[in-house]
Amino acid sequence: MTVEAGLLDRRSWVSNAAIYQIYPRSFQDTDGDGVGDLEGIRRRLPYLRSLGVDGIWLSPIYPSPLADGGYDISDHSAVDPVLGTLADFDALLTQAQTSRLKVLLDLVPSHTSIEHPWFREHPEWYVWADGGPPNNWLSAFGGPAWSKDEHTGRWYLHSFYREQPDLNWRHPEVQEAIGQVMAFWLARGVDGFRVDAVDRLAKDPDLRDDHPATGPWLLPLPPEYGTLRHVHSRDAEDAHELVEVLRRYAREVALVGELYRPTEELKRFVNHFDLAFAFEFLFAQWHPRAIAPIVESAARLGRIAWVLSNHDFSRPASRLGEENLRLAATLLLTLPGAAFIYQGDELGLRDGPGIHPPFDRAGRDGARHPMQWDATPTGGFSSGRPWLPPVDPEHRNVEAAVADPHSLLTLYRRLLALRRSFGGEFEIVFVDESVLAYRRGQHTVTLNFGEEARGAVGEGVVVLSSEAESQPVAPPRGAVILQREGA
Ligand code: GLC
Repeated sequence: MTVEAGLLDRRSWVSNAAIYQIYPRSFQDTDGDGVGDLEGIRRRLPYLRSLGVDGIWLSPIYPSPLADGGYDISDHSAVDPVLGTLADFDALLTQAQTSRLKVLLDLVPSHTSIEHPWFREHPEWYVWADGGPPNNWLSAFGGPAWSKDEHTGRWYLHSFYREQPDLNWRHPEVQEAIGQVMAFWLARGVDGFRVDAVDRLAKDPDLRDDHPATGPWLLPLPPEYGTLRHVHSRDAEDAHELVEVLRRYAREVALVGELYRPTEELKRFVNHFDLAFAFEFLFAQWHPRAIAPIVESAARLGRIAWVLSNHDFSRPASRLGEENLRLAATLLLTLPGAAFIYQGDELGLRDGPGIHPPFDRAGRDGARHPMQWDATPTGGFSSGRPWLPPVDPEHRNVEAAVADPHSLLTLYRRLLALRRSFGGEFEIVFVDESVLAYRRGQHTVTLNFGEEARGAVGEGVVVLSSEAESQPVAPPRGAVILQREGA
């Protein structure tokens, strides 16, 4: 193998990978403090291996005052003691990689916690104004994007909570500091990063006002935040140049971009990323005629990470309804490109109730309730009192689902195994009011969104049906996959 091919190889795995997102605080607790930990993830690797995913993405594992569920980081190059130690991380990484599971870390380059030492030691690494907010920019979570720093009387920019000051990416030392963070984790051997809030790196250098919104955007936004078109507070003209810096520091590992943008706008970025999340897909109206064009344009873009949920949004079981989960799983896992599965979706977990007062002031606790491993009251998540209660372990848990050949989890397993045999080609071959069908090389996938059974599109033998039928029929709210014979 040439050196170049070797380098490419460290990234090429990601383009068709199935990656399982772990929210570490809610996956598996092993020390009884009610919060998940790295050792818990390590012990559950055999489960992930048997599910058939290619890798895991860990939401932030770093020290954090938890104003934003771990996305407010106070030290990017350490492990939160509640989650474990660096030695625990090394053990997890080694065992994952030995089990042929790649590991992506969450990289949050656009802001830090206000408690990060950088905020006081290097104030010039942040974005400041004197005398009051210099423009009308809003925080994604409500209110102005500027807050007064009581120590200095100056105003600092925060695209998210006021506890998360934005770094000034136009300062070379900021780029270097984040580069060092990446080098730190690369030296430990990680396989890549999911990069948080990429479109917040570059703001208008002149801090001009955002424009009033004239209508809804293509993706949902919180009501107040949606009153503006964020033409200057995010994604400035030269954003791709800053992203190029990340690419350089990432060297040969995979980079998955979280760009909360319509697909069209991802074009400028995808060259620097191996994948970008398809958020238009996540929010598509659940109708074949709505999904088809969204899938088509994202597939054309290539380098796409299909995703139906994560720690920020309502789960498919609650958003789409339980009756649609088998269809949704088939859609997610048969499209061309990579697919991300959020922990618990393979069980059909529903959103949990919000709690009062909430941990997340933006209302995202519902999607972060613990994983349910067995039918005991804590779902086998913890021997202590879970930080958020499990939703319904008596009805849904891994132990029962693994043993049931008709469970959603079993369907996930079968789809994850089958997708390995799909060809790269992708072509939508049929769409009407109820059915969406596409070809993946020798396979044709027929998805039936309607209430009546429909015949399978294409030719060949049935290799998978969401209802475990052997007929070439797509059951109501189900799917069937054919494979051309002789293929
Ligand atoms: C990303 C994360 C979200 C977080 C935000 C700010 O969108 O997914 O959880 O609140 O960035 O870091």
